[in-house]
Amino acid sequence: MTFLNLTRTLHNSKIIGDEIKQRLRLRTQTRLGLKTYLSRGAIFVSLGTMKRSLGTVAVLGAGKIGSVVALSLAASGRARKVIAVRKSRGAPALSPEIESGGDAAVAAARADILVLAVKPGDAKALMRAIGRRARGKLTVSLMAAITTKRLEEGLAGAKVVRAMPNIAATIGESMTAYCLGRGISAGDAARARGVLDAFGESLEVPEHLMDAVAALSGSGPAYIAMLVEALVSAGLKVGIPRDTALKLATKTLTGTANLLSARGVHPAELRDSVTTPAGTTIAGLYELEKGSLRTAIMNAVEAATLAAERIARKFEAAD
Ligand SMILES: NC(=O)c1ccc[n+]([C@@H]2O[C@H](COP(=O)([O-])OP(=O)(O)OC[C@H]3O[C@@H](n4cnc5c(N)ncnc54)[C@H](OP(=O)(O)O)[C@@H]3O)[C@@H](O)[C@H]2O)c1
Repeated sequence: MTFLNLTRTLHNSKIIGDEIKQRLRLRTQTRLGLKTYLSRGAIFVSLGTMKRSLGTVAVLGAGKIGSVVALSLAASGRARKVIAVRKSRGAPALSPEIESGGDAAVAAARADILVLAVKPGDAKALMRAIGRRARGKLTVSLMAAITTKRLEEGLAGAKVVRAMPNIAATIGESMTAYCLGRGISAGDAARARGVLDAFGESLEVPEHLMDAVAALSGSGPAYIAMLVEALVSAGLKVGIPRDTALKLATKTLTGTANLLSARGVHPAELRDSVTTPAGTTIAGLYELEKGSLRTAIMNAVEAATLAAERIARKFEAAD
């Protein structure tokens, strides 16, 4: 009996308690080098950490976000090979593990999975260049505003997943929303998550929310950076040296975000818990309310959503 069958049988037989199940789970992970979950007697193997399980991945458009994706995939060991392609010839190689340069069509023909990361304005030319080479292949598009329907029309027979990462992918901290195109199987979806989770976390959303997602979490790092910038200016105003203010502002931001995630509390609950009667925090909050911070942020995300929708319409209208 294989180790995998043994763990499955033990789990099904209900003769082992939770603690032993947990140990088995860890041991299975270690032994097989897989992230294996024992759940209700079934064994789900997450492709997330399966070595080289993604085969050859071609990142077409290795610019700011594409190069992060290529580097993350190479570092994760999930892909057998990573190919990164840019438009301009002679661009320096991203790393020794990544095959850089070459032609999008040739790379697409060699790959098992395609990642599309060109600007929306270059999407049509890229899709024309790839043509039928995407047929039957998982194709993960990171391009803003281009729908799965458009991608499926441009790349006949491709298995399309549309995703929206953010630049925190650079440190493996992207929150990437994605939606599935037509006929995507559970296995394809798992492989797509295998790509996306190489640079952070992923979350499936319905496609009609993708423009809004681009406006919130795609553009979000720019809003947050502006907030940090404002806190640094505020620190300077009250006499805190710039470096100290930056450190205080960034660490306060990450600490608060981590606390909210870890506790799962509503932000208002956290805010209330640190706001004492006639104290310092309420004095600051009062000014933020007077300055309509919340309204400004809601307006910003709404404006960015409308902008994403405009770009999508422009793409639809162009030949
Ligand atoms: N940056 C972000 O934070 C972010 C976040 C979420 C989604 N996205 C999406 O990701 C896409 C790329 O954004 P970006 O900021 O990474 O842009 P970028 O830095 O301009 O990268 C685009 C890359 O595409 C390459 N390219 C253009 N046409 C090509 C072709 N036919 N074949 C191969 N490569 C080609 C360009 O090559 P050259 O360098 O040689 O010109 C460039 O390296 C956009 O659609 C955007 O909506 C970006």
